[in-house]
Amino acid sequence: MEQTLVLDFLGELRRTHSCGELRASDAGTRTVLMGWVHRRRDLGKVIFVHLRDREGVTQVVFNEGVNPGVHDRAEMLRSEYVVAIEGTVALRTPETINPNLETGEVEVRAERIWILNDSRTPPFPMEENVDVAEDVRLKYRYADLRRPHMQRNLVLRSKVSFAVREFLDSQGFLEIETPFMTRSTPEGARDFLVPSRLQPGAFYALPQSPQIFKQLLMVSGFEKYFQIVRCFRDEDLRADRQPEFTQIDLEMSFPQQEQIFEVIEPLVQRVCAVAGYEIPAPFPRLTYAEAMRSYGTDKPDLRLPPFHAVEDLFPDAALGPAGLPLVAILIPGVGPLSRRERDELKAFGTERGLRVYDDLRRLERDFAEPMARVRGRTRAAENDLLLLAGWAGEPKGQRPEESVFQACGQLRLYAGQKYNDRHLLLNPANFQFLWVVDFPMFEWGDEEKRWNAAHHPFTSVHDDDIDKLTADPARCRAKSYDIVLNGVELGSGSIRIHRRDIQAKVFNALGFSDEEARRRFGFLLEALEYGAPPHGGIALGLDRFVMILAGENSIREVIPFPKTAKGTDLMCDAPSPVPPEQLRDLGLQLRRGQ
Ligand code: AMO
Repeated sequence: MEQTLVLDFLGELRRTHSCGELRASDAGTRTVLMGWVHRRRDLGKVIFVHLRDREGVTQVVFNEGVNPGVHDRAEMLRSEYVVAIEGTVALRTPETINPNLETGEVEVRAERIWILNDSRTPPFPMEENVDVAEDVRLKYRYADLRRPHMQRNLVLRSKVSFAVREFLDSQGFLEIETPFMTRSTPEGARDFLVPSRLQPGAFYALPQSPQIFKQLLMVSGFEKYFQIVRCFRDEDLRADRQPEFTQIDLEMSFPQQEQIFEVIEPLVQRVCAVAGYEIPAPFPRLTYAEAMRSYGTDKPDLRLPPFHAVEDLFPDAALGPAGLPLVAILIPGVGPLSRRERDELKAFGTERGLRVYDDLRRLERDFAEPMARVRGRTRAAENDLLLLAGWAGEPKGQRPEESVFQACGQLRLYAGQKYNDRHLLLNPANFQFLWVVDFPMFEWGDEEKRWNAAHHPFTSVHDDDIDKLTADPARCRAKSYDIVLNGVELGSGSIRIHRRDIQAKVFNALGFSDEEARRRFGFLLEALEYGAPPHGGIALGLDRFVMILAGENSIREVIPFPKTAKGTDLMCDAPSPVPPEQLRDLGLQLRRGQ
């Protein structure tokens, strides 16, 4: 007969152990465990329950012969019910030891049970390897977060944050909070705006980063600042981008660029150690120009070898337009490709403006000596994939050689990823860090037809390039740097402009009128007039770092309550319309149809 479930009160009861704690040496101990029913096996007279909490799983046994009342209560248990049990720890017989459980040598013989709450049938099993559609996971995120890999990821995240704080504190950095309700900060994305009720028609912007405030803290004399801080950017989302994300943000007064690296490298080593990885330092340093020439990207994945420009080995314009690079791309250990695979590679290159030469036998017939030298330069072995790629059309962009290198960089990664199962170079547990330095100061904005700051407008220009600010912006280098891990931009920073006159020049080069510069950043310009010290800093993406350490492919896997690609929180259904009164209070009105 179906019995109705009456829930128990917790009363004065306290747990004595976690569900991950009991070992053979605890046999005979009395224990009170509390947790969730992970699995239940009902053999009639005996019921086994795997009881789960944050620390692990322990088997609990309810035996009708020993304690019929408690056994009857245990019959009512279902998945994810919340219970407390009191009992005695007992050794399992050798044949029933469960080597897959840390607590597998023991079980707890239940003498009392408290059913503290029931649960609807969960939307998916709380198991490690059950594939569940992501929108279902996000709708029931509180349940999804119970699953072991999400528990592991958030534990790792917490430990990483703690290690960062501990390390930066030991280096004399102060954790100082900066406002979330502020003015627009220039990091190149759209702002999220918050309407002001007290000043109808006026808006706060949520910060895209604490950039301006951390610079102001240097003007205030704090010298070493850090913050683990939420940033907000309204931009198109991808696997490694969220509209709100977390930065490890820091700033120092009087630093050489190298001194910032000397803080970050041991910090990164410390964080990797938290995840169990030992990382060698110092990290390699490549200039932006070198990274482009060798990898076709400012975030090279060093797990694959660099490519080589080889146009100097061939007669002029033999395989591509004169003055533009011809690139030899090598992916080791791929072995022979089928006709279809070759066509795919060529099509990928063609779509990006390249002409891809994959028929090496023909090239070796027509250009025997140059090809022998290509093989020498790339150290291509028999089983490697070697491709030559040149530009198919007219030179493109302000730095045309970059367009060729970029397309080749994409082809290199495409081939490397596509055939990873043959060479296994892209091992996620192989962490290859590097610094990319000397970025260009400006990027050409095709839409606006003007130069934009490649990093942000407070970045110092290279001492040798100050004269190029207006004369040759395309070749002007910045004192900015990125830290890159396995092809992902992990962090970015720069030495800042601390002088009012140079900041004005840079605003000018960016096409800001004096008026506009004053309107948007007047307070910063003014602060620079009150004894601003030379300063510089960096921000690392915490979500991206933890994602890579956890071996995940998306930052959503390391963020407890993330948004979908459309910026929606599926669990609490945000963003959502608001009642008209709330809009009225804010002095806002929606246009018809919205
Ligand atoms: P930047 O804009 O390069 O620099 O950002 C620094 C790092 O933050 C991470 N990041 C993101 N992570 C997840 N989702 C996003 N939408 C997102 N956007 C950025 C990246 C990136 O490398 N103020 C400067 C730093 C400085 O100069 O000190 C800044 O914000 O890992």
